[in-house]
Amino acid sequence: MAVYFSVLKPGDTMMGMNLSHGGHLSHGHPINFTGQMYKVVPYGVHKETETIDYDEVLKLAKEHRPKLIVVGASAYPRFIDFKRFREIADEVGAVIMADIAHPAGLVATGLHPTPIPYAEFVTTTTHKTLRGPRGGMVMCQEKYAKLLDKNLFPGIQGGPLMHVIAAKAVALKEALTPEFKEYQSQIQKNAKAMANRLKERGFRLISGGTDNHLMLVDLRNTAITGKDAEEALDKAGITVNKNTVPFDPRSPFITSGIRIGTPAVTTRGMKEKEMVKIADFIADTLQNINDEKHHENTRKAVRELCEQFPLYKERLV
Ligand SMILES: Cc1ncc(COP(=O)(O)O)c(C=O)c1O
Repeated sequence: MAVYFSVLKPGDTMMGMNLSHGGHLSHGHPINFTGQMYKVVPYGVHKETETIDYDEVLKLAKEHRPKLIVVGASAYPRFIDFKRFREIADEVGAVIMADIAHPAGLVATGLHPTPIPYAEFVTTTTHKTLRGPRGGMVMCQEKYAKLLDKNLFPGIQGGPLMHVIAAKAVALKEALTPEFKEYQSQIQKNAKAMANRLKERGFRLISGGTDNHLMLVDLRNTAITGKDAEEALDKAGITVNKNTVPFDPRSPFITSGIRIGTPAVTTRGMKEKEMVKIADFIADTLQNINDEKHHENTRKAVRELCEQFPLYKERLV
């Protein structure tokens, strides 16, 4: 919020990635404050490649001259080319806010392109791949620091949550360690292994695969909706979330996709072999979607797998 207030006045034009193409509600969706306060021009992915259509972004930017371009996504399995966005923003004199909430851990360890120095503002949550406490951070170029601070306090925020700040410091210290880099690298390897197995099992992935920590399964060529899939997998002990896919014919409450991420299972110590197993659990569950007994049996197998990879293993005696 503080970034938007630092760059835009009500009624100004901004661009953000379309929610149904993988963007986030807070990047200009009509039901979010951003969509209500600003004139929003959404951009999205190319129909064929299902990756960000940079040529379209440039075209829209030239046509609408946004003051702010928000770059970042919630359900986008590919790297983001921040340099390309900088070039586009420079053509129209726009400021960039890169929201790296999802890939922050990968960015911090050099496994995903970094928005620095291309973006004036970089925001992130601290609880996704960064694996810290629930919260966020805003970074900015020095020339915006005073304005941003003022817009945050007294502009928006009350007293600081010191316990969360302490936990963020711990997360950032952890992010500097070689173990954390190894963890991030394994997240990526695991995502690739799971994606490959799902493809072998006949599922279509948006953009054909993944560069980061997540993948988006396209269920449009099946009789299953995202909602059905999420519910069945929940019964089988596997937590994923339903998600729209680009150009989804279904509503965001039903959807035609599921989004799967590997950071949590990687934290438990699981590797590629286990990803193949999990992908098989997912594929078997979706192929037996109405079989409650099947879900019950899968749930047991999932529990057994998890028991082999306990959390906080090093603290168990
Ligand atoms: C790109 C992006 N930005 C911001 C957020 C906000 O995170 P939260 O709602 O967990 O605070 C999310 C969460 O999904 C996100 O994907």
